[in-house]
Amino acid sequence: MQSKKLNLNMLLGIAMVLISCMFFTSCMEEEQLEELVQNAQETGTTPEPIEPEEPAVALPGLPEDVAGYEQWLKLNAEPIPPVEGGDPHLGTKNVYVNQTRETIAPNGQQQFPYPDGSIVVKEAFRPNKDYVGLIAIMRKVAGIDPEHNDWEFIEYTRNAPDAEFRVIASDGICWGCHAQVEDIDYVFTELD
Ligand code: HEC
Repeated sequence: MQSKKLNLNMLLGIAMVLISCMFFTSCMEEEQLEELVQNAQETGTTPEPIEPEEPAVALPGLPEDVAGYEQWLKLNAEPIPPVEGGDPHLGTKNVYVNQTRETIAPNGQQQFPYPDGSIVVKEAFRPNKDYVGLIAIMRKVAGIDPEHNDWEFIEYTRNAPDAEFRVIASDGICWGCHAQVEDIDYVFTELD
């Protein structure tokens, strides 16, 4: 009688262990599945267009289409130092473009011309100043100026960190120098 009871208890015990094992493995499987799905989603995504994390606001006085330019693709790996003895855009400079590396340099080799809608922004920190004092923009607009590869040139400056940018020069003043690099679509700075 007693041994029968013992057997029953043992059987019950084994059953419990089996059931909890099944439960545990099914949980594991679910977890693993979730992980797999998540991994697939993470690795399977194609590169998204560059989106600023926060809604970007243009610096005062600058057009809205350059808002958040600091988050665009930077062409230069290192800041471009001031040019000794007459710098057209005096200061320490960075050059950004609203395109992805894949678009302008498929297979790692930069292609020219830039596509329609491209905006190239150069910022310059004036010597010994810690705010952007100059913004030069090249904007590619189909049909706007076929003689200069449809680039619109415009430059803005300001003299205080909270001041509004003002236009100081555009197009004709810029063509002379930039025509030197007509073969690479008028843009001096190449993608590093
Ligand atoms: C005296 C020659 C000269 C003139 C004039 C000039 N630039 Fe430039 N620009 C350069 C050089 C050189 C660079 C390369 C980066 C550097 O050293 O500053 C450059 C860079 C730029 C860039 C960054 C893309 C690039 O070509 O590397 C922009 C944008 C730009 N210039 C806009 C303008 C605009 C707008 C004007 C007219 C208002 C203008 N530039 C006038 C010589 C000139």
